[in-house]
Amino acid sequence: MKRYHVTTFGCQMNEHDSERMKGMLDSLGYAEAPGRDQADLILFNTCSIREKADSRFVAHLGEAKRVKRERPEVIVGVGGCWAQSVKEEVFARFPFVDVAFGPGQVHKLAEFLVSDSLTAQGYFEFEGFTGHLPAKRAHGHHAWVQISVGCNCVCSYCIVPSTRGREVSRPAGELIAEVQGLAADGVREVTLLGQNVNSYGRDLPREQRTTFAELLRAVDAVDGIDRIRYTSPHPKDMREDVIRAHAELPALCEHIHLPLQSGSSPVLKRMRRTYTRERYLDRVAMIREHVPDCALTTDIIVGFPGETEAEFEQTVEVVEEVGYDGAFTFIYSPRRGTEAADLPDQVPHEIKVQRMQRLVEVVQRRAHDRASRFVGRTLDVLVEGPSRTDPSRLRGRSRHNKVVNFTGLGGPGELVDVEILEATSQTLSGQESILSRAAG
Ligand code: SAH
Ligand code: SF4
Ligand code: F3S
Repeated sequence: MKRYHVTTFGCQMNEHDSERMKGMLDSLGYAEAPGRDQADLILFNTCSIREKADSRFVAHLGEAKRVKRERPEVIVGVGGCWAQSVKEEVFARFPFVDVAFGPGQVHKLAEFLVSDSLTAQGYFEFEGFTGHLPAKRAHGHHAWVQISVGCNCVCSYCIVPSTRGREVSRPAGELIAEVQGLAADGVREVTLLGQNVNSYGRDLPREQRTTFAELLRAVDAVDGIDRIRYTSPHPKDMREDVIRAHAELPALCEHIHLPLQSGSSPVLKRMRRTYTRERYLDRVAMIREHVPDCALTTDIIVGFPGETEAEFEQTVEVVEEVGYDGAFTFIYSPRRGTEAADLPDQVPHEIKVQRMQRLVEVVQRRAHDRASRFVGRTLDVLVEGPSRTDPSRLRGRSRHNKVVNFTGLGGPGELVDVEILEATSQTLSGQESILSRAAG
């Protein structure tokens, strides 16, 4: 039996795509190998969002080259966003690569593997959904659901529209059938995935048109699904119907990831985000009004071209004011083919690093303040498995998407009540409430 090994870089969409790659390979009669040295097919599912993502991957690729030198019959494949961004160039730069494919061509890997010409094939059209391929899920109780692919936004720093193509939504009926199948398979939590989930459905033919809020309602109605998450919404498309859904739908979690990017309206304009600081803060106010306990997380870029000290301060101010439960902070990285890469006044690296440090300090302090509100409360925690720091304890997630480390007896996929005793900016710590277990 032939064996494969897949390394995944990048976002949740890539994790989803890798599960589908593995599912497809299983259906072709392949099995998963524990390491690259045992594999007949070495695959990389790549990301290109920042320069660091590229360099990390290239280091791994060097290892595949070594394996290929020792065992020339091994097939090396490169998929995902980086592959899409360089296309055929991959074969010139890394001649030991046998097959390359973009995110819209994962299904072509199967065609390649059963064909006679096993050399330097590239597949880069945008067609089909990886969501249509069989999945090999990493967790029994959780599943990714791809509701759309691609992005119609033109954020000036972002490479994704060129690596994932125009936005295309999957019909709601198809998605609900998929979620019903997952629930029947024991899945309790689903994460709906798209580059801009709340513009979902606008491209569907009139008779199939469904809004994102309607889709959430239909997923909530599926028996057995206890938790619904989604990522990422775009602030410009965040409407009241979706926010209300968080208050009304029992399965929809009290957590919204609302990417800010910058707290300065002129920077947002140069980023082509199409909202201002004020509009963003209005959305936050609306969330706080309808779902007071909602956790809010965000993405922020520091050192965007032309970002002045005062503009950066505006971002810090928004972070202070909103009080995020967590934030991913990134140093701006110029990406090939994007508008911002050619803007004047690129910010020097040392200044970017300094600003990043200042921002992280505020992010962590505010996240810690926010997390303190959970101390003394009993939270509903979905058990994932043993704690990473102390295997005698368990690890799970609250509906607010906080990681909770705790002592208790719950098994993976079980929902348990955990009394929260301590909070840091990143994680909560507690003990499973024995009373609730005794009471059933
Ligand atoms: N479609 C999603 C995710 C985009 S990528 C969304 O719009 O939210 C995830 C994050 O990476 C972005 O939100 C942004 O903060 C960051 N990012 C994207 N391009 C970047 C770049 N060139 N440099 C630094 N950070 C970047
Ligand atoms: Fe990139 Fe903007 Fe689309 Fe997100 S919304 S994927 S940041 S272009
Ligand atoms: Fe995701 Fe990276 Fe592509 S963040 S969409 S895998 S460029």
